[in-house]
Amino acid sequence: MDQTVNQLLADWMREGFRGADPDGDLAGISVVPAVQAGFGDYQCNQAMAIGKRRHQPPRTVAGAVQAALPAHPAVARLEIAGPGFINIHLSDDWLAARVNALDAAPEAALTQPGAGRTVLLDYSSPNVAKPMHIGHIRSTVIGNALDRLHRALGYRVISDNHLGDWGTQFGIILMGYRHFLDRAALAASPVEELERIYVKSYEKTKEDPAWLDAARAELVKLQSGDADNLALWKQFVALSLGEFQRIYDRLNVRFDLVRGESWYHNLLEGTLERLRQHGLVRESEGAQVVFLEEEKLPPCIVRKSDGGFNYAATDIATVLARVEEFAPEAIVYVTDERQQLHFRQVFAICRRLGVTTRLEHVWFGLMRLPEGTFSTRQGNVIKLERLLDEAEAKARQLVDANSPGMPEANRAEVARAVGIGAVKYADLSQNPQSLVTFSWDKALAMNGNSAPYLQYACARIASVLDKYRAQFPDGALESHPIALTDPLERDLALRLLRFPEAVLHAVENDKPSLLADYLYETAGAYSGFYQNLPFLKAPGGVRESRIRLGRATGNVLRRGLNLLGIETPERI
Ligand code: ARG
Repeated sequence: MDQTVNQLLADWMREGFRGADPDGDLAGISVVPAVQAGFGDYQCNQAMAIGKRRHQPPRTVAGAVQAALPAHPAVARLEIAGPGFINIHLSDDWLAARVNALDAAPEAALTQPGAGRTVLLDYSSPNVAKPMHIGHIRSTVIGNALDRLHRALGYRVISDNHLGDWGTQFGIILMGYRHFLDRAALAASPVEELERIYVKSYEKTKEDPAWLDAARAELVKLQSGDADNLALWKQFVALSLGEFQRIYDRLNVRFDLVRGESWYHNLLEGTLERLRQHGLVRESEGAQVVFLEEEKLPPCIVRKSDGGFNYAATDIATVLARVEEFAPEAIVYVTDERQQLHFRQVFAICRRLGVTTRLEHVWFGLMRLPEGTFSTRQGNVIKLERLLDEAEAKARQLVDANSPGMPEANRAEVARAVGIGAVKYADLSQNPQSLVTFSWDKALAMNGNSAPYLQYACARIASVLDKYRAQFPDGALESHPIALTDPLERDLALRLLRFPEAVLHAVENDKPSLLADYLYETAGAYSGFYQNLPFLKAPGGVRESRIRLGRATGNVLRRGLNLLGIETPERI
């Protein structure tokens, strides 16, 4: 589609406002779905603001807008309500034609505002030699949904897994590796063993200054290209990546690029030089610092007093390199809330260097388990793979209980899709910035805003279609278009046509939860329709119309879930 319903109505509405208020600002005119039943299908609320500005009663403004509006095929009638709301009632015929087009070509439903535009998404980005923690799974799941959503709107997306593979931890790990390594443990569970030797070596740096010095010396050797240390480092990276990859495979996540911090390591000196040329760095207690008083941010260290570059320096160099290589219009970072200050500083410094690319930090709160917060620092890391194993096991119980007829061979596969889907959706359906308490009951609820609920809704729709085909094999389906005669049909059709709006809003606000909310409401509208109207028993013609409206709903739900990275098994 070229435009979403609210966009085309807003374009039209602007003509009315132009007539009523010739020198007014038309950019702010918008049309939104009606907030309440009985007030039309869509509404425009701008008459109030304009009335205030022009010292006119808003209802008078609304009346002038109405008088200036040409007829539109989508609109049956307008009505001015309350203080000056303009309520839009859509034409049933137009709605039906549009929903038939959606049913005929579901893949063409979405608008393509991203055509010709590039966005770079930096997400997941775990640290080498440390296990992925829940923050990384959230970054992976949310980032991957944003990735899919942008691509669906026509954007060229470059997804980059910015591994933490070059930090100060490597000096400590190298020492740990040389003194404490248990080879059998490394073979059995590499990241766990790397973490163990890291923690052990780290503790020793605190009690033994000589150990700390030695670790620093190892880091310097590594960073200046020492062959032995580099070989070991490469091994750490490869082992970690192997484990991360297992999780990515299970989550069905792929990256265009996996460039860790190390990728930018040779650019750090040049970046510092560029900061100097812009007069941005000052020396403070031996460190190189950028002061950000104007932005009211604390100073940002870019090179430590021991000569080492830090996380901020790497991120600044990374922005510059990405801008040069890909010329994206935006770079979006997905991490937990603890990195807000870091990114504010990095973005401010990039602005001062003249970077005009939109830089955005999409942050999320830490997720809590009823038992407490997931956090590496607290040492109670919930191993991600165990979380996913548990999800699949619990989903298996759900499948056994709800789908007794399913062949044994399919159960594991369906349990996998439902379990992984439940974990992803539990994350994606929340406002990412609110504090989330994860609960299995909620994630797996068959009657609530959960993946299994939506997956079962899709499967039920598919089975109605199967039953129809079995009973009426003569191919009448395609010759009877969708007709909207019952209010329940009309309501469902209206909602289906809001799918492109929901995807657009999710992208514009970097909030996959906006799409999740939409899918949940749509599934609810479908149940109302399905439970209250006859389908297979309806008279010929009506029957086909309803089956097709159901099919269109199934397509929207499946496509929507797919954009969130959630699989929809055909049969459950
Ligand atoms: N490795 C970091 C961490 O685990 C996240 C990196 C995010 N991306 C970035 N460009 N800084 O906390």
